[in-house]
Amino acid sequence: MVAITPAFVLASLAATAFAGRDRPLRLRHEKAARSLHARNSAFTLVQNYTGSDFLDTSKWSYFTGTDPTNGMVNYLSLKEAKAAGLVKVGSNNQTTISVESGNLPSGQNRKSVRISANEKWGKGLIIADFAQMPYGCGVWPAFWTVGANWPDDGEIDIIEGVNKMANNQLTLHTGSSGTSCTTDTNPGLINGVPAFLGNVLGTTCASSDGNNAGCSFSDPDPTSFGPGFNSVGGRVITVVRDDMGIRMWSWRRSDVPADILAGKPNPDLWSSATAYWSSVTCNFDEHFADQTIVLNTDVAGGWTTSNLPGSGCGTDVNSIVANGSNFENGSWVVNSISVWSL
Ligand SMILES: *[C@@H]1O[C@H](CO)[C@@H](O)[C@H](O)[C@H]1NC(C)=O
Ligand SMILES: *[C@@H]1O[C@H](CO)[C@@H](O)[C@H](O)[C@H]1NC(C)=O
Ligand SMILES: *[C@@H]1O[C@H](CO)[C@@H](O)[C@H](O)[C@H]1NC(C)=O
Ligand SMILES: *[C@@H]1O[C@H](CO)[C@@H](O)[C@H](O)[C@H]1NC(C)=O
Repeated sequence: MVAITPAFVLASLAATAFAGRDRPLRLRHEKAARSLHARNSAFTLVQNYTGSDFLDTSKWSYFTGTDPTNGMVNYLSLKEAKAAGLVKVGSNNQTTISVESGNLPSGQNRKSVRISANEKWGKGLIIADFAQMPYGCGVWPAFWTVGANWPDDGEIDIIEGVNKMANNQLTLHTGSSGTSCTTDTNPGLINGVPAFLGNVLGTTCASSDGNNAGCSFSDPDPTSFGPGFNSVGGRVITVVRDDMGIRMWSWRRSDVPADILAGKPNPDLWSSATAYWSSVTCNFDEHFADQTIVLNTDVAGGWTTSNLPGSGCGTDVNSIVANGSNFENGSWVVNSISVWSL
């Protein structure tokens, strides 16, 4: 996602920082980064959000401001979202978070949900288990984190894409002041395997309202997003922020490492990441403040609309948004999101 309005910042002010133990350590070369890696396995579980946790406003805030990306969307409060059936907890404790379905008059905004965790995340790990994700023409789902001031406090886009995209896009955004923050495209091996498997799309993380591509990777796995993601029963996503930088993995259920299943996650034991932004070419302590975790489904808006030509969705935004069939698969089904500190 992109640009943050003051209203969004207000919505996340209730946050209590738990992970502000910023280490003074600044790694500026690869060797040091690698030797630290071996020690880097002791995460502490801080939160495991599941079931009705996502409907508890002491834990998650419902953003009700104007969409910062100019989408054709009205984000609902918890009360409104419950009444509209857009958030609910199933008997199996899965939380379903949806965009409004059904046809609408042309030009009318569609109802949706955008929630952010009240507790902030600094260094550590996020494990997000989704059974299903939203997709479709006009749909812009995003699971991401963002600092209080955009872009200077950083943004980490973990699951994101628009329209009929089949491959997940993983992106960092930073401010442009201070030292440069870029993707190290040739970080070599980590624990004997390639550091990342994703395709590099852009290497400059500095972003602004007019130039917002960020430094991003595309996941080559056709089950990393949208219909493919749902066809394999969803995925388990892991994001590590440590002194090596930021790394992301996306696991098929059958491939989730045993240490994660055992509740003792240890990235040293994992295979190649999908995306890796190395601390060799970005000073993360400088460019990333504590992050707020956000889950939303946007409708139309910046990227969705600019992606329309050639997308196979047509180019008339009003008729795309009005057409209920485009939103029949517009739900996140969340098993759990656990947050760990380092
Ligand atoms: C979080 O909760 C889910 C659902 O109850 C459970 O499957 C998962 O193992 C829990 N994760 C941790 C780290 O406790
Ligand atoms: C369902 O989720 C709630 C948190 O919302 C949790 O307290 C409870 O233990 C969960 N129940 C099961 C059966 O996992
Ligand atoms: C509505 O959306 C569906 C699904 O994308 C599409 O197949 C159909 O052609 C659309 N209908 C109109 C009238 O655009
Ligand atoms: C929604 O999902 C179903 C089941 O996978 C699929 O058949 C249908 O084409 C999807 N609809 C759209 C608009 O993508």
